[in-house]
Amino acid sequence: MTEAQFIPKPYTSLPESGTVSWNSPSNIALVKYWGKHGEQLPKNASISFTLSNCLTTTKLIYQRENTNTFNFEVFLDGKRELGFEPKILKFFERVEVYLPFLKQFSFKIETSNSFPHSSGIASSASGMSALACCLVDMERSMCDTEMTEEFFKQKASFLARLGSGSACRSIEGDLIVWGEHKDIEGSSDLFGIKYPYPVHENFKNYCDTILLVDKGEKQVSSTVGHNLMHEHPFAEQRFQQANNNLEKLKSVLERGNLSEFINIVESEALSLHAMMLTSMPYFILMKPATLEIINKIWAFRKKHKSNLCFTLDAGANVHVLYPANEKVMVRKFIENDLSVNCKNGEFIHDHSGNGSEKI
Ligand code: PMV
Repeated sequence: MTEAQFIPKPYTSLPESGTVSWNSPSNIALVKYWGKHGEQLPKNASISFTLSNCLTTTKLIYQRENTNTFNFEVFLDGKRELGFEPKILKFFERVEVYLPFLKQFSFKIETSNSFPHSSGIASSASGMSALACCLVDMERSMCDTEMTEEFFKQKASFLARLGSGSACRSIEGDLIVWGEHKDIEGSSDLFGIKYPYPVHENFKNYCDTILLVDKGEKQVSSTVGHNLMHEHPFAEQRFQQANNNLEKLKSVLERGNLSEFINIVESEALSLHAMMLTSMPYFILMKPATLEIINKIWAFRKKHKSNLCFTLDAGANVHVLYPANEKVMVRKFIENDLSVNCKNGEFIHDHSGNGSEKI
């Protein structure tokens, strides 16, 4: 596939008005994407679990209007959210060539998240993927020829990527690869694909509890963070390391090797943060509570021979990952021992899921 394949043929008919609504979840990377080039193209391949409970619901209401400009308003939980609009405008500008109807409508974008907006959880993945699904769904109704399910998902992922890189991994589930990788057939820099190889029972319905350590504004935006990889002294080794880790994960996922899974996932999280510790300017995104939680997880794992582990995004919150058959034991541990390290004792239980859904 190339970018050109996402440019549609002229539409047969444009509707006067309509509404389309989608739910889309967040995702959590096991092998991290950090560093990009060109137009939102990743410097290395990544893989993630699509989540279930942390999701964005977006309703796109459209009205025919030939103003020849982008015409839209964004509402979060029913209130106009001007703060989101520059990002959406940039997104519309980027994707216009692939959705040439955009300037012929005015849009009302109504969005809400299942998780608190201030929780520090990346809402860009769920938000951008939900909006991308709404737009491709709208386009589908204007096409003469039937759009296959496969093309729908590819185009939604392709557009979501142009909004926020990791958003392209939220369209489907439960394991998604984004970025061309020599050992993963069909993998592409342009969009996410469903992980195409056998996955052991151990990794079905994998659990993720998100511990809300820091609910403030992000200290480093992901745009700034990705850009820091351009002049980074360890960049090339990091990209190589990520690709090697993905290669190793293949047999781990097939054999159900949980201890090796833990090694790769935790090393990926710490390597991501190591990139920020060693960039110029440098950042420490972990908080004291992040480290306390990590140490408690390690002690618990050793004592109970458990298979829980942690991963991190570009922030202080901790994702606790564990197999479904350890759910009761690990959740008790989280409630009793880890919740004290969370802001207001807050955490969110989630698990791997199937991706975006039309409502
Ligand atoms: O999608 P972005 O540009 O916000 O980048 C997110 C990158 C990480 O969440 C830190 C890692 C990942 O692969 O999701």
